[in-house]
Amino acid sequence: MTDLSVNVDHVATLRQARKAAYPDPIEAAEIAERQGATGITIHLRSDRRHIQESDLARLRQSVKGKLNLEMATTEEMTTIALRYGPDQVSLVPERPEEVTTEGGLDLLSSGERVVAVAKQLDAKGIVVSVFVDPEPRQIEHLLSTASDYVAGFEINTDSYSSAEGAAAAAELQKIAQVTAMGLDGGLRVFAGHGLNTANVGPVASIPGIEELNIGHSIVSRAVLVGMEQAVREMLDAMG
Ligand code: PXP
Repeated sequence: MTDLSVNVDHVATLRQARKAAYPDPIEAAEIAERQGATGITIHLRSDRRHIQESDLARLRQSVKGKLNLEMATTEEMTTIALRYGPDQVSLVPERPEEVTTEGGLDLLSSGERVVAVAKQLDAKGIVVSVFVDPEPRQIEHLLSTASDYVAGFEINTDSYSSAEGAAAAAELQKIAQVTAMGLDGGLRVFAGHGLNTANVGPVASIPGIEELNIGHSIVSRAVLVGMEQAVREMLDAMG
């Protein structure tokens, strides 16, 4: 069985649209865990567009499974991660103008910074993962430079998720290839980005991928399947 870490960022996106107190990502995380998610993922972005530092503090208290914090390799984020001690940190590239994480880290150019941050987190017992595209050279570089401090990597499944037919099959092959490379090197392998119920099956079937991180499709679906009850509740309240 592949583990599922539910990313609740977009529950916070909806909350921040009104700067309201709801919907609460902590409540969403509790529901996700009750339904079988083995962990919760959040991305505390430098611009705080969705998840806030207070959400991290509260989730640290409430999450029963693995709390995975996605973050940029900045000093600010490193300090925050060390303060709250999530079970895992996934280091991601972050560009201010991007809508969502675009592409994995280029370890060949940013590897030194990654190692510097990973060293500090690892010393506090935080599992460190890095988000990378399914390119063998990234895994080779990780194995030869950072595997003392980085326990694993998350494969960016975006190219697979946005492809169809033969192109999707080719992307899946790349994911399987880097998974095998990582496992051979003793690393843990995670994957995610753009996965939904229509495309998740083949990725979940790749042996050795420990966990999938899925957010946007789950939160989007939750809005629609919850609409019926929400409208009924409002009509009841109107009397
Ligand atoms: N993994 C990483 C590193 C991400 O940045 C994201 C998006 O926040 C995800 C997984 C989840 O992607 P999605 O929201 O498309 O399921």
